[in-house]
Amino acid sequence: MKRIAVLTSGGDAPGMNACIRSVVRACVHFNIEVFGIKRGYQGLIENDICQLSASSVANIIQYGGTILKTARSKDFMTPEGRKKAFENLKAHNIDGLVCIGGNGTYTGAMIFEQEYGIPSMGCPGTIDNDLWGTDYTIGYDTAINTAVEAIDKIRDTAESHDRIFFVEVMGRHSGHIALHAGLAGGAEGIFVPEREHELEEIVELYERKERKKEFSIFVVAEGEQEGHAYEIAKRFQDHHPETDCRVTVLGHIQRGGKPTSNDRILASRLGAHAVKALLEGHRNEAVGVISKDIVFTPFKEAIERKKDIEDNLWTLNNIITR
Ligand code: F6P
Repeated sequence: MKRIAVLTSGGDAPGMNACIRSVVRACVHFNIEVFGIKRGYQGLIENDICQLSASSVANIIQYGGTILKTARSKDFMTPEGRKKAFENLKAHNIDGLVCIGGNGTYTGAMIFEQEYGIPSMGCPGTIDNDLWGTDYTIGYDTAINTAVEAIDKIRDTAESHDRIFFVEVMGRHSGHIALHAGLAGGAEGIFVPEREHELEEIVELYERKERKKEFSIFVVAEGEQEGHAYEIAKRFQDHHPETDCRVTVLGHIQRGGKPTSNDRILASRLGAHAVKALLEGHRNEAVGVISKDIVFTPFKEAIERKKDIEDNLWTLNNIITR
């Protein structure tokens, strides 16, 4: 293997730049030529590929977003798109890929390898932390901290006005952000897609509490089965019309901003190990960190298996909010 290319695909996540930097610096270390592909698989199809050097990635570790830009390429889902992508890779004599992103990114890399034999390694980059094969994904720690900072601010106004706030955080299919941000933000109830009957429980709890608080904060994952935060707030107010409820949807601010040191270190470890693994003959695998150790998980398994929220934290939440 002489030439490796790196791309970011899917939703951006703080720490992706640190990962790109680490991939590039590891390639330089191992005397491998390294290329950057813009806008994920779309740039591969459109031949938007440029050579990178150690200095191309100087002064980026502290920035959110991705210098390579990102996209969810519909064209790459077609055989014609992948054919074009392969031709462009071959024209650059690129032998392997490091693909930073989530489930869709892994799926693209896996199909591409099956059709054209291009070896890829994946680095888990998504704020949602919903990928199997790693304890944490790049961007998750930053997103939680952003959400907690926002919840702290909302708490001030909730208390001043004696209001009940429902704060919606990201997590299209998962409640990892909601659980961690809710616990760290001292929420009185957390709604996650992985569990049921949360509304019933918070209504029951609200009615049972002897020490009636005038204000409360509930955190709702975007993918919650009982509905979005607005619907849940409305249903809560149907039970308690006397309460003054408000909803805040945090949205994409959770995807931006300076990565935390945890995200920078995680991203740096994953990027360098992805390069090393490619050179050692690994392919079609996602790199992850489990209990502080680097692990490799076949794409197929990483895509098919669902990482549940930490049950011990869910139990803890149920204990300390009662
Ligand atoms: O990156 C994952 C995620 O943040 C989800 O939680 C969310 O639903 C989705 O991205 C939204 O992404 P976009 O606005 O880019 O479609």
